[in-house]
Amino acid sequence: NIKGFVFDLDGVIADTSIYHSKAWHQLADELGVKWSDQLADDLKGVSRMDSLELILKTGGKQNDYTQEQKEAYAAKKNTNYLDLLKGMDATAILPGISDFLKDLAKHNYKLSLASASKNSPFVLKQLGLADYFEKKVDPATLKHGKPDPEIFAHGAEVLDLKPEECIGIEDAKVGVESINGAHETSIGIGDPKILHEADINFEDTSKLTLDNIEKAMEVGQV
Ligand code: G6P
Ligand code: MG
Repeated sequence: NIKGFVFDLDGVIADTSIYHSKAWHQLADELGVKWSDQLADDLKGVSRMDSLELILKTGGKQNDYTQEQKEAYAAKKNTNYLDLLKGMDATAILPGISDFLKDLAKHNYKLSLASASKNSPFVLKQLGLADYFEKKVDPATLKHGKPDPEIFAHGAEVLDLKPEECIGIEDAKVGVESINGAHETSIGIGDPKILHEADINFEDTSKLTLDNIEKAMEVGQV
């Protein structure tokens, strides 16, 4: 019996994942690390410092910089990212999400946010969606990033719900793994080949409706 929904932010609620990608791509170029679609996918859902580590590792440069230098590069990426978000408003909300949130509220589902992004309060505010997500997991409190189940487990806890009562929604492979590890029902948004571990898959957010979710659960996909 589903009572709550735990949302990822970037790439699920808003199209910000393309800006994360752009900003990392720029930094990778500066560091002389070859950018690829695979790397872009692997970075989805990964925390800021872990993302930098992954980029350095991809280029075989993980031992080339001090912690201080790494922090400076991560800060630079974030400045760049925030520049790309300048002027962001509700038009950045992905198709169907506003209606879906309204419908969830109407049916009294509880909502929480399980984003790894430290920018999520700012992003939600710009989008005008902060009121829907009073309950959030603070990524600063986490011991482990996605794919560890910790963040989605907390997403259910902040709602006072059991994991089995929650559906988690993600666009990242590591995010789907986190939801599954937390024993929630997982919805993957995007390429089913990449998100094949999701209980339910939708190509894009426009398909994300209570009707479609109910149908998917009835046909025993879950
Ligand atoms: C989300 C995004 C990632 C991003 C991470 C940290 O998980 O999908 O692309 O690296 O948040 O975001 P932050 O805004 O804290 O750098
Ligand atoms: Mg995401």
